[in-house]
Amino acid sequence: MGSKNTNDIIILGIESSCDDTSAAIVGNGVILSNVVAGQKVHEAYGGVVPELASRAHQQNIIPVVDQAIKKAAIKQSDISAVAFTRGPGLLGSLLVGTSFAKGYALASGIPLIEVNHLQGHVLALFIREKGQPYNPPKFPFLCLLVSGGNSQIILVKDYLEMEVVGQTIDDAAGEAFDKCAKVMGLPYPGGPYIDKLAKEGDPLRFKFSKPKVPGLDYSFSGLKTNFLYFLRDNLKETPGFIEENKADLSASLQHTIIEILMDKLVKATKQTQIREVTVAGGVSANSGLLAALQQQAVKHKWNLIVPKFEYTMDNAAMIAITGYYKYMEKEFVGQNTVPYARTKL
Ligand code: KG4
Repeated sequence: MGSKNTNDIIILGIESSCDDTSAAIVGNGVILSNVVAGQKVHEAYGGVVPELASRAHQQNIIPVVDQAIKKAAIKQSDISAVAFTRGPGLLGSLLVGTSFAKGYALASGIPLIEVNHLQGHVLALFIREKGQPYNPPKFPFLCLLVSGGNSQIILVKDYLEMEVVGQTIDDAAGEAFDKCAKVMGLPYPGGPYIDKLAKEGDPLRFKFSKPKVPGLDYSFSGLKTNFLYFLRDNLKETPGFIEENKADLSASLQHTIIEILMDKLVKATKQTQIREVTVAGGVSANSGLLAALQQQAVKHKWNLIVPKFEYTMDNAAMIAITGYYKYMEKEFVGQNTVPYARTKL
């Protein structure tokens, strides 16, 4: 970014809520770097092992921050504030990022900014890249936030003013993808594998149960159980049932998850009369969900905005951009701030 002016606002963002250690630099609202280190150690276990995640964060955090600063071509002394994910997430993982951010802010004499991970996923829609077109949504808008830990419909009134209008009462959509993929013997996280297999399968071949939850709330645990029992019953008669029907099972499962998500989203747009619609979180990378969103956008005349793929997954760019908007409002926290495993928006 060249040499720093006194008015430049440069934010270091830190994300460590689950199994990705990430650091990013945002300069005056523009992304300068975004480094993500994944953790392969969990693959053998078919899910994230919290204890191993914390240890891997501890190993990764310094090299990742160092790389983010170098890639952004700034000096450490240029950084105006440190923003970190305070929660929700795995407590041991969050403690690594929080402690690092606190130490960094203290040592550099700069403000500390806490960021809600979910708010970060929503504000990923405002990530601006140098020399790239910038088409952020207009307020107010609805955001379907679908990740491994959350499924929510959020009414976004302003950068820092959001209201959850619907959410899952049990499992998240990503969890449904991952847990069903696991029983099919697919690697973790299973969402992308189901997505790939679904492209070759018949989405209407198998029928799975859809929940009857009032209002705009979601539920995915019944579908997961239904899928599990369906496989168990069929495997009794046909031992090769999963192998022989992998594509159709994936396509039918994905179709059901998408129908559940879309039914409530359409209902939310009707209730709120808002046609500015966005999507965020890891599951928004799903090709079937994106196609369904595009179809409904045409049908209901929505202005649909989809974030760039790399910013839908866990990343620190979304934490840094949220930190930037909080910096403008001087929303700082003290050294006594602690992370939280569960929280609302
Ligand atoms: O946002 P994210 O990286 O982490 C959380 O904050 O949870 O989301 C991860 C989730 C996982 O459940 C993963 O299976 C799912 O996003 N996912 C997908 C796809 N890509 C990632 N699910 C379905 N289809 C995909 N293409």
